[in-house]
Amino acid sequence: MGLLEGCRAIVTGGASGIGAATCRRFVEEGAAVVVLDVNGDGARAVADALGATALEVDVADPLAVATAVAAGADLLGGLTCLVNNAGTGNVLPLADYSDTEWDRLLDVNLRGTFHGLRSALPLLQAAGGSGCVVNVASVSGLRPTRGEAPYSAAKAAVVSLTRSAALEYAPEVRVNAVAPGFIDTPLTAFAMDEPASADPIAAGTPLGRIGTADEVADVIVFLCSPLARYVTGETVVVDGGSVLGNPQVDVFLGGLLP
Ligand code: NAI
Repeated sequence: MGLLEGCRAIVTGGASGIGAATCRRFVEEGAAVVVLDVNGDGARAVADALGATALEVDVADPLAVATAVAAGADLLGGLTCLVNNAGTGNVLPLADYSDTEWDRLLDVNLRGTFHGLRSALPLLQAAGGSGCVVNVASVSGLRPTRGEAPYSAAKAAVVSLTRSAALEYAPEVRVNAVAPGFIDTPLTAFAMDEPASADPIAAGTPLGRIGTADEVADVIVFLCSPLARYVTGETVVVDGGSVLGNPQVDVFLGGLLP
């Protein structure tokens, strides 16, 4: 018996990377899944491989998300789980961000998460105590990364939104987040494809390598499973230890060790 038997889930950003891995791991654990993505062809490819259903939706569009969540719940025969995973990034000096780019990053990463929560929470409340949400934040929302100011601000707000929703919708719905570190997905292909950038990232990770989408998906499975039945409002960091350490003194104090 799988960890997610009886789970009926919508996964946003399910066409690629962490979202696609989450859809696959959910189905392997017994869940029924609707794959939601702005990339309709990608969503359909993932859904077809899993015997699931795809919906082509931009999470930045509030009406489209509300309609899709209602349709997804109908297709699934009810909704017990939402994974708010759709996201996108950019790297620029803070002062070079245009209003348009600021809005795009906040609209997808933060408002998209809010749209999903607002549409799904009443349905999840009706799930008889088994409702759960996982929002995909980022370690960039826990401590800044140069060049990612709007993305970091949005992901920090996703952590805050997670805690607000957890407080307001307990005890019927558990709401948690994951904060991945650098993960090998199409989003990070610009760095992964170059040993000159990928090797130092792996070397700077205490666990010594870059993480995979499956390694984030497994934590999302855990948070949505009965194993996490007493966990809500938490943000679980999945980063191979990258946020550990203190760069200011690491080299000096490390040099004092035998
Ligand atoms: P990815 O680029 O492989 O997948 C993102 C998916 O979201 C794509 O299928 C894309 O079409 C979809 N998407 C983008 N904008 C959308 C919109 N407006 N509406 C609906 N779908 C949309 O990226 P990855 O790495 O799998 O990212 C998934 C989540 O993980 C994102 O929220 C990202 O911010 C987060 N994350 C990723 C990290 C990484 O190193 N890959 C690190 C920390 C967080």
